[in-house]
Amino acid sequence: MKTEFSRQDILSVPCDLLVVNLFSGVDKPGGATGAVDKALDGAITQLIKQDKFEGKFGQCLIFPTFGKIKAKRVAVMGLGDKRNFNPDAVRKIGGHIVKLATGVKAEKVVTILHGAGIGGLDPRAAAQALAEGLALSAYRFHAYHGALRKKDKAPHEVKSLVVCETDGRNARLGQEGLERGIILAEATNYARDLVNTPSAHMGPVELAEAAKKILGKGVSIKIMDQKEMEKRHMDAALAVARGSQNPPLVVHLAYKPKGAKKKIAIVGKAVTFDSGGLNIKPGDSMTTMKIDMAGAAAVVGLFKALPELGINVEVHGIFIAVENMPSGNAYRPGDVVKAMDGTTIEILNTDAEGRVTLADALCYAKSLKPDAIVDLATLTGACVVALGEDIAGLMGNSRKLTEKIIEASRETGEPVWELPLFEPYNDHIKSKIADIKNVGARGQAGTISAALFLKPFAGDTLWAHLDIAGPSYTEKETRPDQPYGGSGFGVRMLAKLLQKI
Ligand code: BES
Ligand code: ZN
Ligand code: MG
Repeated sequence: MKTEFSRQDILSVPCDLLVVNLFSGVDKPGGATGAVDKALDGAITQLIKQDKFEGKFGQCLIFPTFGKIKAKRVAVMGLGDKRNFNPDAVRKIGGHIVKLATGVKAEKVVTILHGAGIGGLDPRAAAQALAEGLALSAYRFHAYHGALRKKDKAPHEVKSLVVCETDGRNARLGQEGLERGIILAEATNYARDLVNTPSAHMGPVELAEAAKKILGKGVSIKIMDQKEMEKRHMDAALAVARGSQNPPLVVHLAYKPKGAKKKIAIVGKAVTFDSGGLNIKPGDSMTTMKIDMAGAAAVVGLFKALPELGINVEVHGIFIAVENMPSGNAYRPGDVVKAMDGTTIEILNTDAEGRVTLADALCYAKSLKPDAIVDLATLTGACVVALGEDIAGLMGNSRKLTEKIIEASRETGEPVWELPLFEPYNDHIKSKIADIKNVGARGQAGTISAALFLKPFAGDTLWAHLDIAGPSYTEKETRPDQPYGGSGFGVRMLAKLLQKI
């Protein structure tokens, strides 16, 4: 989809669909909506008068224009109460526009900067959210649809979207926001592709290749193979990888802009398939386990966007890609493995493999001496039980850092909720024969004990952990900007966080 700003009068741009808006409680439309109303002989005002349209959020009127204006059709989108309007609402409006345009097979769509007028939003933020909403909603994963589907049922695509804004300053700021939104949405969609690709085609090698593909200005990559991992004593991660035919790889991305004053490490869980290992998962729990590298996918997505965003922070992206499989060579329950820093880990369940690989990834990240580490991991089913499918669990050792993450997540519409890193639960992961064990107490605070397991590996470094087991993937499609499959959760939030740090 091509997206651009135009300073032309909205009534004079030819298009298949023109989308204007109305806040609830407005009975005399003004601005662009007012102009359209006038050109259509008061049709919108009339419907408002007849109580057929209240401007409720997501409510929509659509009519043909019979040549009265250059657009073939007009849609009026309800924006709801203007006091509740925010960028996340604009993102949803973007999604509704895509749905609407797809419904009437519109190829060229014209709209306005929703919320930048009486909605009171900053035009840059409004435009960015609109672009994100459009591009995130238009995403579909088609790589595996056969020839039949491709030919006969090729899904409709909006080819071009023009945002009309007559005010010069708003148009200039809007253009900036639009570009930023597209960059971030495309990075998110890239992460989605990685998550959606079946594990047979997205093993450690392919995941590392995917990271190589996105290298932009100022970004470098270092890939370490099994031999190198042995040299570095990453024995915990190596143990997890041992059951698979596909050897592990460490991927270290670095973005070093000139004059950066802060250094941040982002670590992602990268289990390319989680069968559970010898503690094999029951069938139903295994079906979606290609998504167990969603943390790493978010890291790669972030790095795709970084050079284009002009972020002035040194950023390191780290993941250890492994496949967790059962075999005659697999690590076993009862084994004791040693992480890079010498910590011994008693393995009591091979399906709690994420924390075992992250132990080494965090040690490696810490060795870079960053100002802070943030990790993202599809770590525990317990987090889905606690917070549901839409919210990530957040824990960390620094109030300042978790607060910044919460702020960023609010702005990007990627919900997180903080859980306590309750120290007494360290009892849950005490081992009788090693420094720590990889499972907590049965049926109790599994997300917290997993985070407590990770905590010592960050040491004194400021650290935050996001358990993204729920929101990394969706089958429900509850919001238009989050279609079926991998969500790319975290990409936009991390970019926002780096802006704040
Ligand atoms: N990959 C899973 C966690 C998961 C579950 C992610 C559901 C996404 C959706 C993780 O490796 C795992 O299997 N965790 C176990 C830990 C347990 C054995 C202590 C779990 O949550 O059951
Ligand atoms: Zn597992
Ligand atoms: Mg989910």
